[in-house]
Order: sequence, then structure tokens, then C-alpha cells
Amino acid sequence: MSFDRSLKIAPSILAADFANFGAECAAVEAQGADWVHVDVMDGHFVPNITFGPAMCKAIRPHIKGTMDVHLMIAPVDTYIDAFAEAGADMITAHVEAGPHIHRTLQAIRAAGAKAGVALNPGTPAEAVKELLDVVDLVCVMTVNPGFGGQSFIDMTEKVMDIRAMIGDRPVHIEIDGGVDPTTAPMVVEAGADVLVAGSAVFKGGSVANPAPYGENIRAIRAACAD
Ligand code: DX5
Ligand code: ZN
Repeated sequence: MSFDRSLKIAPSILAADFANFGAECAAVEAQGADWVHVDVMDGHFVPNITFGPAMCKAIRPHIKGTMDVHLMIAPVDTYIDAFAEAGADMITAHVEAGPHIHRTLQAIRAAGAKAGVALNPGTPAEAVKELLDVVDLVCVMTVNPGFGGQSFIDMTEKVMDIRAMIGDRPVHIEIDGGVDPTTAPMVVEAGADVLVAGSAVFKGGSVANPAPYGENIRAIRAACAD
């Protein structure tokens, strides 16, 4: 994974067919996805349960590019090695998940993965200020985490503040939640380069009929190019 700020679309498989994850990952990649975003939820940090490291390991061979694992779990540290061994390229932990996020980020890098830090909508930009030299990605949540298909919460000013704080550092800004062709342009303009999108990518398509995935991905890209 070399660093660049070109726009990357990361479909969230939270909106995919849960009985068919391997084929869904391959289908969205074939339709133009840059990264595949995997939402891990524990029913404790967030009020929903999805899947864990065994599922990540199972889908890994079906993903050619970057597997972007978003941990909505607490505690985090005890599970880092398992997700790294499952083949996660990026492991993102929430700044709200515990008192020692800096240690968590160091542990992610020590396990051989890239480290991301996520912020809930209610958490200010300043929460990542002291972490920018130990992260590869800042994920700005534009919904309260836990569910797909929620309405976008405008975090444009926060994105601009974080972009200014990052300066020349090789740190991505990822946006997660409610991203579609109407909301994507404002966050890209503010400095984001990775857009997670679940419902907006998977709507209207299926493994048997994957062309809508490509149309949906291109619609987001086109809106940001205007
Ligand atoms: C929310 C997840 C998101 C979500 C995005 O807790 O972290 O990745 O799946 O889904 P949409 O794009 O439908 O808001
Ligand atoms: Zn996510």
C-alpha cells in the first residue's frame, strides 16, 4: 500500500449479502472498488453485532486489494493480533474505545498492519492531534456507528481541521457513514481521500447482477470530480 491522496472508494460489506461475502468482495472489486471496508461490531461499544477475525480470514483470499477493517469494539488490544493474522491491511480503532488509544495504535503497527483512528461525530478534531505521527488514517464518522443506511451528519469543518493538522504527513482521511453522490463532494472538498459507502454502493445490485455496483461507484466518483 503506497501512499497517495487520490480518491478511493471503500464499499462497506455491511450492506452486502451476508450469505455470500467472498463473492460480494470480488464483485465490488471487479466493479471498481479501491478498498473493501469491513465493519466489526461487538454489541458493547456499539449496539449491533457483526463478525470477527475468523470471517476476515475467510474473505481475505477473495480480496485482491486493501482489506480495511473498522473495529467498533472495546476493548481492542486483545484482538489486534487476530485481525492482523487474518490479513487486515488497515486496522482502525476508535479513540473512544479506551483510555490508551496511543498504545493501541502502536500495537497495530507492531502487528504489521497500518493503523487507523476513528472519531465518533461527538468527538472533536483535537482528539487526534497527538496521534498523527502514529497513524496512517483518520476516520471521521459521519453517522453514529452501529448501523448502515443512516443519514449523513455534516462533519465538514472537522475534516478541514484534521486536514490542516495532518499537513504533509502521509495520513489518509476516511469518511464513514451516509456517503452518497450528494454528500461525498463536500467532504472530498474538505480534504478526505477515502470514502466508505455501504448502501450507496450495494443498492440495486447483487452477485448475480453486479453492474449496479459499478454504476454506483462511478456516480460517487463523478460527483466528486465536478
Ligand atoms: C457504521 C459503519 C459504516 C456503515 C456505512 O457503523 O461503520 O461503515 O456500514 O454504511 P452506509 O454507507 O450505508 O452509511
Ligand atoms: Zn465502518
